[in-house]
Amino acid sequence: MKTDRDKWDARYSRTEPAPPTPDSLLVDHADLLTKGRALDLACGMGAESLFAAECGYVVDAVDISTFALTVLNGRARDRGVAVRCIAADLDSFVIPKETYDLVMVFYFFAPGLMAAIEGALKRGGLLFYSTFNHRHTSINPEFNPKYLVPPGGLAKFFPALDILLDEPYGGSDGNVARLIARRR
Ligand SMILES: C[S@@+](CC[C@H](N)C(=O)[O-])C[C@H]1O[C@@H](n2cnc3c(N)ncnc32)[C@H](O)[C@@H]1O
Repeated sequence: MKTDRDKWDARYSRTEPAPPTPDSLLVDHADLLTKGRALDLACGMGAESLFAAECGYVVDAVDISTFALTVLNGRARDRGVAVRCIAADLDSFVIPKETYDLVMVFYFFAPGLMAAIEGALKRGGLLFYSTFNHRHTSINPEFNPKYLVPPGGLAKFFPALDILLDEPYGGSDGNVARLIARRR
């Protein structure tokens, strides 16, 4: 039986790796960024990891796909930036508590991880989160609704954070939930 790792490795290896283009949520709000330790969960090829590292963070980049992490590792080495690639399944990976000044999650949603994501932030630490919401099924009917942000957006999952930006229906098609928040 194919594992999640096989599935994602196969998906990534089918095409030439795209140039790393960090998400606009991060780029457009880069003035909020400080320095310190960052965590990029389900980082894929890690465009946001590289961006954060170039802003001065030391980044832990976690993903199940060793293919994607190999590409990221090479790009980080070429740029001379600090990205530590961690191959792990987020269903079992233990996210360190109160460790990070910045946590990034782009296009990955697992409701069971929300408390751990919030708990990973140090006081004052920032969360940048952007992923598809429940309206995405009207664009891609095949998409498993389990992995879509439910009505209302992301803010309700993070009670210990001050919300700086909350867009339940962002993106040009209204199918992306976007959040920036800071730990009290
Ligand atoms: C849609 S991609 C998003 C990648 C990247 N954050 C981005 O925005 O380009 C989802 C990522 O989640 C990773 N992934 C899926 N299931 C995972 C799991 N259980 N544990 C860790 N990573 C997982 C995949 O390998 C893939 O890189």
